[in-house]
Amino acid sequence: MNRVLLAPSILSADFGRLADEVRRAEDGGADWIHVDVMDGHFVPNLTIGPAVTAAVRAATDLPVDVHLMIEEPERYIQDFVDAGADWISVHQEVCPHLHRVLTQIREAGAKPGVALNPSTPVESIREVLPEVDLVVIMSVNPGFGGQRFIDTSAEKVRRARDLATLVSKESGTREQREHPIRIQVDGGIDRTTASGVVEAGADVLVAGSAIYGHAEGVAVAIEELRDAVGGET
Ligand code: DX5
Ligand code: ZN
Repeated sequence: MNRVLLAPSILSADFGRLADEVRRAEDGGADWIHVDVMDGHFVPNLTIGPAVTAAVRAATDLPVDVHLMIEEPERYIQDFVDAGADWISVHQEVCPHLHRVLTQIREAGAKPGVALNPSTPVESIREVLPEVDLVVIMSVNPGFGGQRFIDTSAEKVRRARDLATLVSKESGTREQREHPIRIQVDGGIDRTTASGVVEAGADVLVAGSAIYGHAEGVAVAIEELRDAVGGET
Protein backbone atom coordinates (compact mmCIF):
# COMPACT_ATOMS: atom_id res chain seq x y z
CA MET A 1 0.00 0.00 0.00
CA ASN A 2 1.04 3.61 -0.54
CA ARG A 3 2.20 5.63 2.41
CA VAL A 4 -0.88 7.35 3.91
CA LEU A 5 -0.95 11.07 3.18
CA LEU A 6 -2.44 13.82 5.34
CA ALA A 7 -4.27 16.69 3.67
CA PRO A 8 -5.29 19.47 6.07
CA SER A 9 -8.42 21.30 4.88
CA ILE A 10 -8.06 25.07 5.06
CA LEU A 11 -11.83 25.31 5.54
CA SER A 12 -11.20 25.32 9.29
CA ALA A 13 -8.17 27.65 9.13
CA ASP A 14 -8.12 31.33 10.09
CA PHE A 15 -8.72 32.99 6.70
CA GLY A 16 -7.31 36.26 7.99
CA ARG A 17 -3.92 34.59 8.23
CA LEU A 18 -4.31 32.07 5.45
CA ALA A 19 -0.71 32.01 4.16
CA ASP A 20 0.58 31.47 7.71
CA GLU A 21 -1.95 28.72 8.31
CA VAL A 22 -0.86 26.94 5.13
CA ARG A 23 2.82 27.25 6.08
CA ARG A 24 2.04 25.98 9.56
CA ALA A 25 0.57 22.84 8.03
CA GLU A 26 3.55 22.38 5.73
CA ASP A 27 6.02 22.89 8.61
CA GLY A 28 3.99 20.47 10.73
CA GLY A 29 4.42 17.70 8.17
CA ALA A 30 1.31 17.88 5.99
CA ASP A 31 1.50 16.14 2.61
CA TRP A 32 -1.14 18.06 0.61
CA ILE A 33 -3.25 21.15 1.20
CA HIS A 34 -6.98 20.51 0.69
CA VAL A 35 -9.04 23.42 -0.64
CA ASP A 36 -12.85 23.21 -0.31
CA VAL A 37 -14.74 25.13 -2.99
CA MET A 38 -18.51 25.51 -2.40
CA ASP A 39 -21.08 27.29 -4.54
CA GLY A 40 -24.24 27.68 -2.43
CA HIS A 41 -26.12 25.43 -4.88
CA PHE A 42 -24.71 21.91 -4.80
CA VAL A 43 -23.98 22.48 -1.12
CA PRO A 44 -25.59 25.14 1.10
CA ASN A 45 -22.35 26.89 1.98
CA LEU A 46 -20.24 29.41 0.03
CA THR A 47 -16.48 29.42 0.34
CA ILE A 48 -13.68 30.36 -1.98
CA GLY A 49 -12.64 30.38 -5.62
CA PRO A 50 -9.57 30.52 -7.86
CA ALA A 51 -8.11 33.73 -6.39
CA VAL A 52 -7.80 32.29 -2.89
CA THR A 53 -6.57 29.00 -4.36
CA ALA A 54 -3.78 30.97 -6.05
CA ALA A 55 -2.90 32.51 -2.67
CA VAL A 56 -2.64 29.00 -1.18
CA ARG A 57 -0.47 27.93 -4.12
CA ALA A 58 1.86 30.88 -3.50
CA ALA A 59 2.22 29.99 0.18
CA THR A 60 3.41 26.39 -0.20
CA ASP A 61 5.35 23.89 -2.29
CA LEU A 62 2.97 21.09 -1.30
CA PRO A 63 0.47 19.70 -3.81
CA VAL A 64 -2.77 21.72 -3.80
CA ASP A 65 -5.82 19.44 -3.74
CA VAL A 66 -8.97 21.25 -4.88
CA HIS A 67 -12.33 19.70 -3.94
CA LEU A 68 -15.03 21.24 -6.12
CA MET A 69 -18.44 21.09 -4.44
CA ILE A 70 -20.02 23.08 -7.25
CA GLU A 71 -22.48 22.60 -10.08
CA GLU A 72 -21.17 22.69 -13.65
CA PRO A 73 -17.55 22.26 -12.55
CA GLU A 74 -16.46 22.06 -16.20
CA ARG A 75 -16.86 25.85 -16.39
CA TYR A 76 -14.10 26.41 -13.84
CA ILE A 77 -11.51 23.65 -14.38
CA GLN A 78 -9.11 25.83 -16.36
CA ASP A 79 -9.35 28.64 -13.77
CA PHE A 80 -8.33 26.29 -10.96
CA VAL A 81 -5.50 24.79 -13.00
CA ASP A 82 -4.29 28.32 -13.75
CA ALA A 83 -4.52 29.04 -10.01
CA GLY A 84 -2.09 26.18 -9.37
CA ALA A 85 -4.25 23.18 -8.51
CA ASP A 86 -2.38 19.85 -8.76
CA TRP A 87 -5.41 17.68 -8.02
CA ILE A 88 -9.02 18.55 -8.88
CA SER A 89 -11.95 16.48 -7.67
CA VAL A 90 -15.49 16.90 -8.96
CA HIS A 91 -18.66 15.35 -7.58
CA GLN A 92 -20.26 12.45 -9.41
CA GLU A 93 -23.70 13.85 -8.50
CA VAL A 94 -23.32 17.01 -10.62
CA CYS A 95 -21.65 15.54 -13.70
CA PRO A 96 -23.90 13.79 -16.22
CA HIS A 97 -20.85 13.78 -18.51
CA LEU A 98 -18.38 12.71 -15.85
CA HIS A 99 -15.98 11.02 -18.28
CA ARG A 100 -15.69 14.24 -20.26
CA VAL A 101 -14.98 16.37 -17.16
CA LEU A 102 -12.32 13.95 -15.89
CA THR A 103 -10.63 14.00 -19.30
CA GLN A 104 -10.84 17.79 -19.30
CA ILE A 105 -9.06 17.95 -15.93
CA ARG A 106 -6.24 15.70 -17.13
CA GLU A 107 -5.82 17.58 -20.41
CA ALA A 108 -5.71 20.87 -18.50
CA GLY A 109 -2.73 19.51 -16.55
CA ALA A 110 -4.14 18.39 -13.19
CA LYS A 111 -4.83 14.95 -11.75
CA PRO A 112 -8.54 14.08 -11.84
CA GLY A 113 -10.52 12.93 -8.83
CA VAL A 114 -14.15 12.02 -8.32
CA ALA A 115 -15.98 12.57 -5.04
CA LEU A 116 -18.98 10.59 -3.81
CA ASN A 117 -21.62 11.81 -1.37
CA PRO A 118 -22.47 9.37 1.44
CA SER A 119 -25.62 8.31 -0.48
CA THR A 120 -23.85 7.68 -3.80
CA PRO A 121 -22.72 4.09 -4.42
CA VAL A 122 -19.13 3.29 -5.30
CA GLU A 123 -20.36 1.23 -8.26
CA SER A 124 -21.64 4.44 -9.91
CA ILE A 125 -18.08 5.33 -10.93
CA ARG A 126 -17.09 1.87 -12.15
CA GLU A 127 -16.94 2.90 -15.81
CA VAL A 128 -14.81 6.01 -15.27
CA LEU A 129 -12.29 4.58 -12.81
CA PRO A 130 -9.64 4.05 -15.53
CA GLU A 131 -9.64 7.85 -15.97
CA VAL A 132 -9.38 8.61 -12.25
CA ASP A 133 -6.34 9.17 -10.04
CA LEU A 134 -8.27 9.88 -6.83
CA VAL A 135 -11.57 8.64 -5.41
CA VAL A 136 -12.93 10.84 -2.62
CA ILE A 137 -15.24 9.03 -0.21
CA MET A 138 -17.23 11.68 1.64
CA SER A 139 -17.68 10.53 5.22
CA VAL A 140 -20.01 13.47 5.96
CA ASN A 141 -22.56 15.22 3.79
CA PRO A 142 -20.46 17.91 2.11
CA GLY A 143 -20.93 21.57 2.98
CA PHE A 144 -19.43 22.20 6.38
CA GLY A 145 -16.42 21.36 8.53
CA GLY A 146 -16.74 19.84 11.96
CA GLN A 147 -19.47 17.29 11.25
CA ARG A 148 -19.66 13.82 12.72
CA PHE A 149 -18.07 10.93 10.78
CA ILE A 150 -20.68 8.58 9.25
CA ASP A 151 -19.79 5.14 10.57
CA THR A 152 -20.61 3.15 7.44
CA SER A 153 -17.90 5.06 5.55
CA ALA A 154 -15.10 2.62 6.39
CA GLU A 155 -16.99 -0.22 4.73
CA LYS A 156 -17.51 2.00 1.69
CA VAL A 157 -13.78 2.71 1.57
CA ARG A 158 -13.19 -1.03 1.47
CA ARG A 159 -15.54 -1.41 -1.50
CA ALA A 160 -13.85 1.52 -3.27
CA ARG A 161 -10.44 -0.02 -2.67
CA ASP A 162 -11.55 -3.40 -4.00
CA LEU A 163 -13.07 -1.85 -7.12
CA ALA A 164 -10.00 0.35 -7.71
CA THR A 165 -7.72 -2.68 -7.41
CA LEU A 166 -9.84 -4.57 -9.93
CA VAL A 167 -9.87 -1.70 -12.42
CA SER A 168 -6.14 -1.05 -11.99
CA LYS A 169 -5.45 -4.66 -12.93
CA GLU A 170 -7.73 -4.48 -15.96
CA SER A 171 -6.15 -1.30 -17.25
CA GLY A 172 -2.68 -1.97 -15.91
CA THR A 173 -0.81 -1.07 -19.05
CA ARG A 174 -2.35 2.37 -19.38
CA GLU A 175 -0.12 5.32 -18.81
CA GLN A 176 -2.27 6.68 -16.00
CA ARG A 177 -2.09 3.41 -14.08
CA GLU A 178 1.63 3.85 -13.46
CA HIS A 179 0.38 5.09 -10.11
CA PRO A 180 -2.42 3.25 -8.34
CA ILE A 181 -5.76 4.98 -7.79
CA ARG A 182 -5.66 6.75 -4.45
CA ILE A 183 -8.60 6.59 -2.06
CA GLN A 184 -9.20 9.76 -0.05
CA VAL A 185 -11.59 10.08 2.88
CA ASP A 186 -13.06 13.50 3.66
CA GLY A 187 -15.14 14.49 6.66
CA GLY A 188 -15.04 13.87 10.39
CA ILE A 189 -11.52 12.44 10.37
CA ASP A 190 -9.78 12.65 13.72
CA ARG A 191 -7.62 10.38 15.84
CA THR A 192 -10.58 8.13 16.66
CA THR A 193 -11.87 7.65 13.09
CA ALA A 194 -8.62 7.70 11.07
CA SER A 195 -7.39 4.18 11.79
CA GLY A 196 -10.60 2.44 10.66
CA VAL A 197 -10.54 4.04 7.21
CA VAL A 198 -6.82 3.40 6.76
CA GLU A 199 -7.34 -0.27 7.66
CA ALA A 200 -10.11 -0.31 5.05
CA GLY A 201 -7.72 0.94 2.38
CA ALA A 202 -7.70 4.75 2.46
CA ASP A 203 -4.41 6.36 1.56
CA VAL A 204 -5.21 10.08 1.77
CA LEU A 205 -6.93 11.56 4.85
CA VAL A 206 -8.47 15.02 4.78
CA ALA A 207 -8.86 16.70 8.17
CA GLY A 208 -10.09 20.22 8.84
CA SER A 209 -11.33 20.79 12.36
CA ALA A 210 -9.14 18.04 13.87
CA ILE A 211 -6.06 19.89 12.59
CA TYR A 212 -6.92 23.59 12.61
CA GLY A 213 -9.19 23.32 15.66
CA HIS A 214 -6.66 21.49 17.83
CA ALA A 215 -5.94 23.31 21.09
CA GLU A 216 -2.20 22.54 20.91
CA GLY A 217 -1.73 23.57 17.32
CA VAL A 218 -1.41 22.16 13.85
CA ALA A 219 1.87 20.27 14.30
CA VAL A 220 0.63 18.40 17.38
CA ALA A 221 -2.62 17.58 15.57
CA ILE A 222 -0.76 16.14 12.58
CA GLU A 223 1.48 14.12 14.89
CA GLU A 224 -1.58 12.70 16.66
CA LEU A 225 -3.14 11.64 13.39
CA ARG A 226 0.08 9.93 12.33
CA ASP A 227 0.22 8.07 15.63
CA ALA A 228 -3.45 7.08 15.26
CA VAL A 229 -2.80 5.29 11.98
CA GLY A 230 0.17 3.46 13.43
CA GLY A 231 2.88 5.53 11.81
CA GLU A 232 1.67 4.58 8.37
CA THR A 233 1.60 8.23 7.33
C1 DX5 B 1 -16.76 19.08 3.88
C2 DX5 B 1 -15.41 19.34 3.28
C3 DX5 B 1 -14.31 18.84 4.11
C4 DX5 B 1 -14.19 19.53 5.44
C5 DX5 B 1 -13.68 18.54 6.41
O1 DX5 B 1 -17.75 19.46 3.00
O2 DX5 B 1 -15.30 18.75 2.00
O3 DX5 B 1 -13.06 18.88 3.42
O4 DX5 B 1 -13.33 20.63 5.45
O5 DX5 B 1 -13.72 19.11 7.67
P1 DX5 B 1 -13.70 18.20 8.97
O6 DX5 B 1 -12.39 17.49 8.96
O7 DX5 B 1 -13.82 19.22 10.07
O8 DX5 B 1 -14.87 17.27 8.88
ZN1 ZN C 1 -13.22 18.55 1.10
